[in-house]
Amino acid sequence: MRVVSGIQPTGDLHLGNLLGAILRWVRMQDEAECLFFLADLHALTVDVDPTQLRANVREMAAALIASGIDPAKSILFAHSAVPAHAELAWVLECTARMGWLNRMTQFKDKSGKNKEGASVGLFAYPVLQAADILLYRATHVPVGEDQKQHVELARDIAVKFNTDFDNELFVPPEPFIGGGSAARVMSLRDGSAKMSKSDPSDMSRINLTDSDDVIAQKIRKAKTDPKPIPGDPALLDGRPEAKNLAGIFAAVSGESVEQVLARFEGQGFGAFKPALADALIAMLSPIRARLIALREDPAAIDAHLAAGAAQAAKLAAPTIAAAYRAVGLTHASNA
Ligand code: TRP
Repeated sequence: MRVVSGIQPTGDLHLGNLLGAILRWVRMQDEAECLFFLADLHALTVDVDPTQLRANVREMAAALIASGIDPAKSILFAHSAVPAHAELAWVLECTARMGWLNRMTQFKDKSGKNKEGASVGLFAYPVLQAADILLYRATHVPVGEDQKQHVELARDIAVKFNTDFDNELFVPPEPFIGGGSAARVMSLRDGSAKMSKSDPSDMSRINLTDSDDVIAQKIRKAKTDPKPIPGDPALLDGRPEAKNLAGIFAAVSGESVEQVLARFEGQGFGAFKPALADALIAMLSPIRARLIALREDPAAIDAHLAAGAAQAAKLAAPTIAAAYRAVGLTHASNA
């Protein structure tokens, strides 16, 4: 079992990233060989601020390490540091079909009404993502629901390449949704919108860097409804804010939603919210302390990333060489 996953270096992480993705990665470290990377090449698909990008990669690496990604267990790197990602992406862009990419819903969402003005990179980026995965012959790709279509595209590309060139170079990967309590964390102000860095209201999210007081305040002010807490999770349907808070509590305390509800059944949110704030603070304050310490030592972060890139490059080398050879690119220095 080899696990590969990436995260876009968007800057500050919030509770949604932590519970939805990163803590799953942390748990997988003991079960599989894991490669986790900052998808900095992906960050170029939309307007780039070079200074911001440089800072975001470091900040995100620090946040991942602070959250429990252990560079001694997992291979952690920035994908621009391993040239084989971009090299394989080109080869696979020539395997993938326009029609396949035209079906990608994320491109439609992200390009909006301005398809003609979107970058070619934004359109082609699912192929780079396929290269990220296929380069390491990953068997499992832990992703959220929104990335499932991209992993399926990686499967299609793998199968077509293997068929076209009559080999078994690529391993068609499995998307790995769920797996433990991967929580879908919603906004604290609107239970029907995802918790997001781009929400203009900071009260809608809990940032990894929020102080204990800020966390407590955000939970206190989180939107709820006046009804009492039910014992049965099915009764949370139609109550998105209540459902979100119960889901967060379960993910943070490691319990099921049933167990959480059983403790508060019949009560209002007055008792629930302080307990939730305490649980969040207990989880987040050590992460925050580690993150602040790591930020003081950017050289150490860079050293972790460089070591990870060297390990990743070693694993990638035979695959890119075999892919180049398979398509007839035998003049390449790495073939
Ligand atoms: N596209 C993913 C996202 O936006 C990030 C990503 C890039 C990724 N390459 C990947 C995820 C490879 C899994 C595997 O979240």
